[in-house]
Parts: sequence; C-alpha cells; structure tokens
Amino acid sequence: METAHAAVTTRLSDYQPPAYLVDSVNLDVDIRDGVTTVTSELALRRNPEAAVSDTMSFNGEGLVIRSLALDGKVLEEGEYRYENGELRLSGLPEQATLISVVDIEPEKNTALEGLYMSNGMYCTQCEAQGFRHITFFPDRPDVLSRFCTTVRADKKRYPLLLSNGNPVEQGEEGERHWVTWEDPFPKPCYLFALVAGNLACLEDRFVTASGREVALRLYAEHRDLDKLDHAMASLKHAMRWDEQTYGREYDLDIYMIVAVSHFNMGAMENKGLNIFNTSCVLAHPATTTDAGFQRVESVVAHEYFHNWSGNRVTCRDWFQLSLKEGFTVFRDQMFSADMNSAAVQRVNDVDFLVNHQFPEDQGPMAHPVRPAEYQKIDNFYTLTIYEKGAEIVRMQYHLLGAESFRKATDLYFDRFDGQAVTCDDFVDCMEEVSGMDMGQFRRWYSQAGTPILSVTSEQSGDTYSLTFRQQTPPTPGQSDKQPLVIPVRLALLDKAGEPVALDDTGLRETVLILREQEQTFQFPVGQTVTPSLLRGFSAPVVLEFDYRADQLATLLAHDTDGYCRWSAAQRLYFAALDRLVTGHGKAEDEALKLAPVLEQVIERAGEDAAQAALLLTLPTEVALGDRHTPLDPSAIHSAHQQLKRALGRALQAQWLSLSENLLATELQMDGVAMGRRQLRNLALDYLAAGEHKEAARIAVELFELPLCMTEELGALRVLVHHRLPGAELALKQFAEKWKEEALVMDQWFSVQASVPGETTVESVAALLEHPAFDWKVPNRVRSVLGALAGNPSAFNTDEGYALFTRALATVDALNPQIAARIGNAAARLHKLESGRQRAFRTLLQGVNDKASPNLSEVLSRILG
Ligand code: ARG
Ligand code: ZN
Repeated sequence: METAHAAVTTRLSDYQPPAYLVDSVNLDVDIRDGVTTVTSELALRRNPEAAVSDTMSFNGEGLVIRSLALDGKVLEEGEYRYENGELRLSGLPEQATLISVVDIEPEKNTALEGLYMSNGMYCTQCEAQGFRHITFFPDRPDVLSRFCTTVRADKKRYPLLLSNGNPVEQGEEGERHWVTWEDPFPKPCYLFALVAGNLACLEDRFVTASGREVALRLYAEHRDLDKLDHAMASLKHAMRWDEQTYGREYDLDIYMIVAVSHFNMGAMENKGLNIFNTSCVLAHPATTTDAGFQRVESVVAHEYFHNWSGNRVTCRDWFQLSLKEGFTVFRDQMFSADMNSAAVQRVNDVDFLVNHQFPEDQGPMAHPVRPAEYQKIDNFYTLTIYEKGAEIVRMQYHLLGAESFRKATDLYFDRFDGQAVTCDDFVDCMEEVSGMDMGQFRRWYSQAGTPILSVTSEQSGDTYSLTFRQQTPPTPGQSDKQPLVIPVRLALLDKAGEPVALDDTGLRETVLILREQEQTFQFPVGQTVTPSLLRGFSAPVVLEFDYRADQLATLLAHDTDGYCRWSAAQRLYFAALDRLVTGHGKAEDEALKLAPVLEQVIERAGEDAAQAALLLTLPTEVALGDRHTPLDPSAIHSAHQQLKRALGRALQAQWLSLSENLLATELQMDGVAMGRRQLRNLALDYLAAGEHKEAARIAVELFELPLCMTEELGALRVLVHHRLPGAELALKQFAEKWKEEALVMDQWFSVQASVPGETTVESVAALLEHPAFDWKVPNRVRSVLGALAGNPSAFNTDEGYALFTRALATVDALNPQIAARIGNAAARLHKLESGRQRAFRTLLQGVNDKASPNLSEVLSRILG
C-alpha cells in the first residue's frame, strides 16, 4: 500500500485535458467477508485533444495491488510507480489495455467514500473522488467511459446485486452468485454505483412521453418498505415535470433508488442507481415530519433531474460543480413551487439562502460559485455552489424569460449531450439564444461575497427617485470587487398598499437592471409611496433601505409579493431585537408595537397558514448574533427570549385560539393541512413562551394523541424547550416508543441539543454518551453536533468549546468529510470577543495540529 500524503492545492488555471481517455471499463467486484477484490480492464486511448504524451497517471487510494498488466504483459515492481495516491505508467502506446487486480476492505471504511458497508449491505459513494478508493482510474469528470460491471457475493446474505444500467447476465457458483450490469451511456466514474444486500423493493412503472416503459424500483431495508410510497409518487411527478418543463425524458429501462443509513450527504445521482440517505427517501406520516415529506419530494426530484443536468451533460472539472448543482437546485426549487405553494416555496428558499449562504459568504470559507482553487473538493459542496448557484441560474431565467430560457436549455442539452463542459458553456447558450451580452453577468460566477445594495429615495414634486449603490465587501483572497448585474424587481405601493403606475403606460411592476456602482431611476409619481424592492428576491443581495415602521407595516399587510412581506416582517423583528440587545428598548413595549401588525397577519392566516407561520416566526439567535460584533451570545439569547415571551403574552388570546382551533380530526398530508400544523406548532410555542397556564396541557394532550409526527414532535419540542412539566416523561416515552426508528431518534437527539441556554452543554455531553449515540452514523452525529452548532448560547461557552473540539477530533478519526462539515460551525471565531476567541482558538489549533486534510483545510481558513 502507498503511504499517506498531505493536501495540495488544485487550481482552475492549471486545468489540462487528460493524456489518455478510457473508452470502456470492465469491472469485476468480488465481495467476500473482510476483503473485496476488484479487477478492472480499461481500454485506453491517447486523447487527441491533449498534448502528445506516453505517460498517464491513474488515481488510487489505499489499494493493495495484486497484479497489473498492460496489453497482456504483467508489470513488475519498478515498471510502475504507485505513490501519493497516483499510479504512473510510462511508455504507453496509442492504445492499450490495462488490467489491474486490487484488494480493498469495505468493512473498515468509516469515511463512507468508495465502497463501504451500511447496516449489513455494501454500497458506494463515488462523488467526488470515491472511485479511486475502489480501483485505479483517471478519477476526474472529463473522462467518460462505458461501464460493464459484474458483482459477485454470497447468495443468501446478498441476494440483491445492483449496478448502473441494465442487468445483462447472471449466474450462480455454489453459495455465491453474480450479476453483470451494462450501462450504455458513457459516464465519468463519479457516477458509478454498486449495491449488494438483502433489501425490500417497491416497484412501479412510468411510461415516458414518447411511450417507453421504465421500471421504477425503490429499495430499502425490509422494515422500511412501508415508507417508500411518497418517494415513488415524487419520482413520478418529477419525471413528468421534466418532460413538460424541459422536454427531457428518462433514457434507461430501469430507475433505481436505494436507501442507506450511513451516508455523508443527502443523496447521489449515480446513473440509473441513485443512492439516498434514508432521511431523504423514507417517509411515513407516523415517523416523518411534514418538512421531512417536503424534503423527500425535493431531493428525489433533484437527483432525478441530474440525469440530464449532471449525467447526460456533466462537468469538465470540479471547479464547474455549480454547473450541475446550481442548475439542478434551481430545477428542483421550481418543481417544488409547482407541486406546492409557489409563494411559500420561494420564501423558504430565500430564508435558507439568507440564513445560511450569506453567512458563508461573510466568513473565512467564502468562495466564488466557480471557485478558483481548493484543497479537498468535498469541502466545496457548499451552500454557495448549490444555493447561490441556483440564484444565478434563476436570474438568467428571469432575464431571458421562460420561453427563451427553455430555448437556451434545449440548446445546452443538445449541444453538449455526452460531454463534460463548463459554466461558461451554459451561459454561452443563454447569450446565443437571447442575443444579450452576458459578459458582465458572468462575474457572478467568479466573484465571491454578497453584494450590499443600499437604496435611498427622494420625493421632489411629481418625481420619485430611487438611487442604488452596490458594493461587495472583500472576501479572503479577493479584495477588489467589480459591479455586478443586479436585476431589481420593483413596485411602488400607495398608502392603501396598492401599486401605483410607474410610467404613462400604466405599468405597475418593473425590473431595473443595475450594472454600475451607482444608478438613479426616476418615476413620475407625486404621492407618498412605499417601495416594494427586490420582489421575489430578484437577486441574491443584501438590500439596505431605511424603511419607516409604518412602511414595513404597509408592506407586511398589503404587498402581494410573498418575499417582500416576509422581508418586512424580518426587518420589524430585527429592529426590535436589536434595540433589546443594545439595551435601548423594553420587550413589553416592542411587543405592543408589533402586536397590531401581527394581529392582522393572524386574522388573514386562513388564506395561507404556511405563509402566516413564516411571517410570524422570529429570526434565529444565530441570525440575530450575526448583526452584533463582538458576539455576546448571552445578550442575544436573552433579547430573543424576552421578545418571544412578550409576544407570547401580548397575543395570548390569538395563540391560544390558534393552538386549539387548528386541531384536525383526521390526518391529511396536503399543503393546506401541513400549513395549519406548522402554524399551530408555532402558536403553541408562543403560548408556552408567554408562560400561559394552558400551554403544558395542550402540549401533553397533543403529544399523547398525535395524528402524525409533525404533531408529536412539535408537542415534544414545546415541552422540552420551555421546560414544561411533563417534558422529562415525554422524552422517556418518545425514546421508548421510537427506539427502533433511527430517523425518529435523530429528532429526539436534536430536540434536546437545541434547547437554548448554557445548561444544554451538559445534556449534549450526556447525549454523546447515550447507548443509541453512534459516532459512525453521520445522521446521528449531525443530530447532536449540528444542533449544538445552531444553538449559540450553549455552543459559545467554555464547556461548549471543549466538548465541540473533542467531538470534532473523534469524528475526524472516523470520517474526515463529516468532520470538515461540522468544523464549519467554528466559522464565527473572528466575531467573538477576545477572551472567548482566545480560548476557542487554542482548542481549535489543538485539533488542527492532528487533523485530516479535509478538516485541516477548513480549520486553517478559520484560524486564519
Ligand atoms: N451530487 C450529490 C447531489 O445531488 C452530492 C454528492 C456529493 N457527495 C460528496 N461526498 N461530496 O447533490
Ligand atoms: Zn445535486
């Protein structure tokens, strides 16, 4: 075996095409207890697009070489070099066949990349660079090959043997059996997958628009067979939607999804054989929350959409990751908007971006949507690549309009089918179809950071003018920022909240396209107006406008744009909370000011309960903390609690009636029912925050006779987070009832780890010692450490830092990818006051000294 090696920086500017291509791969994976032997036969051909060379390197990590043969001739040691994860061969002819036989140990693989075991089954994760843990291969997305894979294993224990494409042959040899799969579509090796296990299957069929029949097979452990219906329905909806919206059909005879318990990410779009984290595919009303149902629907769709945006057209190199991820997130967001309430979907997506991607852009890990360099590509599966990438595609969609955008994507899919391409290739299609000059627009891909758009208004006589100034703060390694193209959708609302005419044609909404650092626009409007800016969140920017409280009330009460209403509510909450943090206000007074506005929202809740719930939800402590430097977590926590308590009291009657009257008598899983449950859980939370004497009774009743997990968990959360009588008993009962359901137990862990307040560190320490806690299961680790990271008053304590850094080191020894992800929770280090910062820094430095390359890249950036 080769020796360990340090991380190196890979740069976009160093891109070189591969010296050799691999036209086809014949894989034979012989699975036996303890050791799996992988034989691969690669048909190599010199790449006509690359500079002529007779040397080729193949990636390989931790492979034990049994034999290597080139064109039938066995290579002796000395005839090849295998070090630092690379196998180098020289003196290669124009074409050659390389056969390698290697041993690997999937049973010992706790990093969950390559071939590994999860609850007794074998499965794979190859994106981004897992395939090199299975066999020697040019592990880069611009090498596309035809795969033929034979999987061999014990017949009884692994009756199911799967790989990409179609099964073409199978056989038995005593206790063992084998199946050969052929995938007719050339693909990069990151899309390779294999499964061997004993699984239950839900089967259905789908007839494509052109009449081809596709078998749909969803696999899970036998006990989970009853949790696959929602994923199946979602898959069929997604298949139809992609035909109708993008004219894209499925292209193989079989589409398979396998649910696995141990998984680093959400899911993986392997050609014809998706592999999913159980949390993103299993759903049942008794065990899955409504949010969980929506997540399953969107992730199933996301991976399905990758079949075109990712698989048929893939990325040239990993710097182009957002080409497939940003585009596919945009596609799944639009799908979910069509399946559910579009307004609610948009607010949820914006909320997620603003509360998670914006902080990433402001911290030490900030990077462009098309990064210029990385050490470990796994660390760049970020909110910036995914969510901000989706916003950039969305802006292009709106700039072109639906019809032109569709023409451009048709051109993109047709022109680049079967190829590995770049973000620029995508924008080229937009440019070509629309005739627009997208030159400046492309800066969105290369420039990191969130632009701040400051807007001022002026009324002079019959003219209303708006001045926009854009400026992007410096990010690590990128101090100079250029002006971006910023589409600003806008309306001007009169006193009654009606949009006024913006010109003499009577236009009531328009899109301003900003290109310069500063621009002023004038409107022939004589009356006092409230600007409704950035409607639909038309660009991913921070909008600064000095709204008066009455203007925010107007927007919240009357704007027809869901985003603008939500944003107005956020501004009102932040203003109140900021005053409490800085000691300039009293919670009771702030609540009294907010009450009439919120009352109106509650009165209209019948129109759309989910939207009302979004409008009535306070910003998180994390979001509030980000507005105050240095961060004082206890001041933030106390301000947050005070306002919530005061609102709980000021609107007590309303919360009580929402808690009681929204109760359903029978279970429904449609959007309306889900919205009502969301609003009721929120109302109960406020009721408890206001220390209403009925809160505990209502919560206990709901907890004891829930219609579904959303109710049961909502009640548990209220009992536990407000430390109500009955909380301890409820936790006990819940754990007893659900001990066999891992995904439900994840919720049990995270409810406890997310209780705001310093004392939660003690409960987290106890949770890490709980018999059901398992360091090897990413979902379980996230349920505790992820929750702690989102709980600033517990996290930012001496005990919190000590526990977090110890846990980080433990995770890193098992699973560097997960450790690096969790390590990001330390990204606010530089915002802490100096005492806290020093203590935390010392601990982080200690972990970094022994960290994996994955974790070290993150911690080194944070430590600066
Ligand atoms: N391509 C997958 C998706 O649909 C993500 C898989 C990434 N896995 C990883 N270990 N980096 O988003
Ligand atoms: Zn994806």
